Amino acid sequence: MARARSVYRCAECGHEHPKWAGRCEACGAWNSVAEERLAATPGPKRSGAGGRRAVPGGPATVRALGDVGGERLLRWPLGIPELDFVFGGGLVPGSMSLVGGEPGIGKSTLLLQAGARMVGGGHRVLYASGEESAEQIRLRADRLAEDASGVLVLGETHLETVLAATREVNADLLILDSIQTVFTDTLESAPGSVGQVRESAALLMRFAKETGVGVMVVGHVTKGGMQAGPKTLEHIVDTALYYEGEPSLNYRLLRATKNRFGSVDELGVFSMTERGLVGVPNPSALFLEARSASTSGSAVTALMEGTRPVLVEVQALAAPSGYGTPQRVATGLDPKRLAVLLAVLERRAGHSFANLDVFVQVSAGVKLTEPGADLAVAAALVSSLTNRPTPADALFLGEIGLAGEVRPVGGVDRRLAEAGRLGFRRAFGSGRHAGAAGLTNVALDHVDELIHALAA
Ligand code: TYD
Ligand code: MG
Repeated sequence: MARARSVYRCAECGHEHPKWAGRCEACGAWNSVAEERLAATPGPKRSGAGGRRAVPGGPATVRALGDVGGERLLRWPLGIPELDFVFGGGLVPGSMSLVGGEPGIGKSTLLLQAGARMVGGGHRVLYASGEESAEQIRLRADRLAEDASGVLVLGETHLETVLAATREVNADLLILDSIQTVFTDTLESAPGSVGQVRESAALLMRFAKETGVGVMVVGHVTKGGMQAGPKTLEHIVDTALYYEGEPSLNYRLLRATKNRFGSVDELGVFSMTERGLVGVPNPSALFLEARSASTSGSAVTALMEGTRPVLVEVQALAAPSGYGTPQRVATGLDPKRLAVLLAVLERRAGHSFANLDVFVQVSAGVKLTEPGADLAVAAALVSSLTNRPTPADALFLGEIGLAGEVRPVGGVDRRLAEAGRLGFRRAFGSGRHAGAAGLTNVALDHVDELIHALAA
């Protein structure tokens, strides 16, 4: 007789343990392992690595790769250019996407807008919500610039019911808000538990592949990491988008961290208005909007966000530290990278930040993940220390090594073209960056030369 079986799964990495453990043996996270009870009835397929097929497989079609049709992927534009861009050109039918982000960031708003645009393009869209009633969704829809009246809505948390409704109304796109609020009959655990989230995602993925319906799922991510998590879903879905941004600022950054049908790390920028989200076609201008070129401690660099160059401002403030150990606060960059740059400036360029509190931040909640931004961070630090603004028309581009050497970065042409478009005239960086049209290269081979160039 079939009996209820349990596995113990880590909420962080999804690793399965035969019994409960205080610490995950795979990823080392504490208190992340939770019991997951499998339903007593023998299901069609178990989730996870231990899954066994209950029935022998049917006949399979194996082909040589050369015989596989090379038709171009069909895509449905979602009608919001910034969103389509992050997706790699639109939604692929039969694909499943995850839109993750903190509560209140605007996930439901964005997907409802996309749904409304899809309906406008002649598609059938079902918006199923386990978070809000149809009335609440209507209230949101009434605020939007788009006409969402043709979007079909369903307030439901039972996944099998949602899928049946999707088939019944013959929808092209299913929007499910959110994966943490639905449950499937296959598992006994509560909605939102790791097991439910994973099993629901697997079920949705199979549904998308079988029916050709595009599925977009909302996943909540909390500040401290995640609530039964989008991270564990990332390897299941075709496309994983993350939505970020300071809730207090009205712009939002959307980024693909995984995309089976396009490139990753593409950045889409939106501003949250009274009437929904509006794409920002020119993020560099927005990010530099608040910049005051006559204030010290500011430097501009060009980052490659996916395939697109984006200009951002780095701000630094060095101030006498009142007591004890000076503070080092880095927002938008790795504190360790800041420590390295401070040490290099001290030892290789004779600029000491001892006894000074140092604060560094990046405009618009953007994160500096590439070393090419080093030179801008160093320039902002030196500018704050010497209380001399960096030149208003100067862009800083370069990686700094431990010996203080300035190294070239990749994608220079596109970065400099973007800077030129926004009125920058000089590019401080490695001499090897020379040659871009419109910008004068101010060659620096060592941070020492940066100090001289800024003092000039
Ligand atoms: P929401 O889409 O509900 O966020 P999420 O689904 O990620 O939790 O958006 C929540 C916030 O957005 C809420 O504070 C209200 C605000 N908002 C606007 O500013 N303008 C609008 O047009 C709408 C619909 C919401
Ligand atoms: Mg929501």
